[in-house]
Amino acid sequence: MDLLTTRIDLDAIAHNIRLIKQKVAPAQVMAVVKADAYNHGAVEVARVLADNGADQFGVATLAEALELRQGGITQPILTWIWSPEQDIAAVVKQGISLGVPSMEHARAVAELDCEVTIKVDTGLNRSGVPESQWREVFELLRDARATVTGLFSHLASADEPESPMTDLQAKTFERAIELARECGLEIPVNHLANSPATLNRPDLVHQMVRPGLILYGCEPIPGLDHGLAPAMTWAGRVTVSKTIKQGEGTSYNHTWHAPQDGNYCVVPVGYADGLPRIAQGHLEVSIGGKRYPQVGRVCMDQIVIWLGDDTVAPGSEAIIFGDGGMSATELADAIGTINYEVICMPKGRTVRQYVGGRNEA
Ligand SMILES: Cc1ncc(COP(=O)(O)O)c(C=O)c1O
Repeated sequence: MDLLTTRIDLDAIAHNIRLIKQKVAPAQVMAVVKADAYNHGAVEVARVLADNGADQFGVATLAEALELRQGGITQPILTWIWSPEQDIAAVVKQGISLGVPSMEHARAVAELDCEVTIKVDTGLNRSGVPESQWREVFELLRDARATVTGLFSHLASADEPESPMTDLQAKTFERAIELARECGLEIPVNHLANSPATLNRPDLVHQMVRPGLILYGCEPIPGLDHGLAPAMTWAGRVTVSKTIKQGEGTSYNHTWHAPQDGNYCVVPVGYADGLPRIAQGHLEVSIGGKRYPQVGRVCMDQIVIWLGDDTVAPGSEAIIFGDGGMSATELADAIGTINYEVICMPKGRTVRQYVGGRNEA
């Protein structure tokens, strides 16, 4: 028995990609599986996504792109975080497309036999070719050996529907497309929409959308429900179940004292496994379908759960977030972060298990 697991529901992943495909058809979907598919396991998840209609894959680093190819993913892959100083020969050999976020990157790919997508900065002011250099980069790549398949850009505030930023960026992106075509680039496939825009801005779909978070079943805009299925459940097994007397403290520094004689149990998850120490007092775990508060310090390897008059048997499953417990979004709200970060938290001694999909026994 593994003491700490993330259970990844591959049927949920399949449901989510099918829902997204349906929503944006006939546009294509580039499924973003960077950061090990947001901590769900890149190759396993990409296989399910490919089987259920993902047209292309997007990753951050060159290593992530190569991992997908080595894992048997044959669909087009785009990688967008790399340095012009890096050796890109292996990636080019694998037919992986490179995102081009600067003039230096454009020069690095110009004479290679590869496909590239130019990342234009439309206002995020992170990476991406600034508007002042668009023409120069477009002309350089028009006359180069590399083939430009399209433009892409990233939105700053699509998760805030009332922000004027998205419309501004959308217009700027249109301007980039117009200029690229005027410069003689064909750019058949352009993409701007991340998760919130994919769900809520049908006008920004272009030829492809580029969602990550919603593949994993999390809503990007608080309060909205699009029928996504959360894929990750983080659960531990109770190791110790004990009694405590009223007024006695538990865990380091005794920051919590039992309000009555009662019971507590210990779950083997701590900050070394990605549960932040600042979660203290904000987490409720579910055991046997009932929620109980985590109390006292979050330690490196363990937390304490106050059961009151209840008792639980060692070996019982304690859900930290996911199916049957707090949702990733609920936990994010409770500890002052976003669901993106919560699903990326489980690490350390956590063992990943898959259910559903092609792996079902
Ligand atoms: C360039 C780029 N495109 C798409 C995404 C997917 O974003 P989301 O998970 O909000 O859909 C990301 C993630 O941060 C990204 O960096």
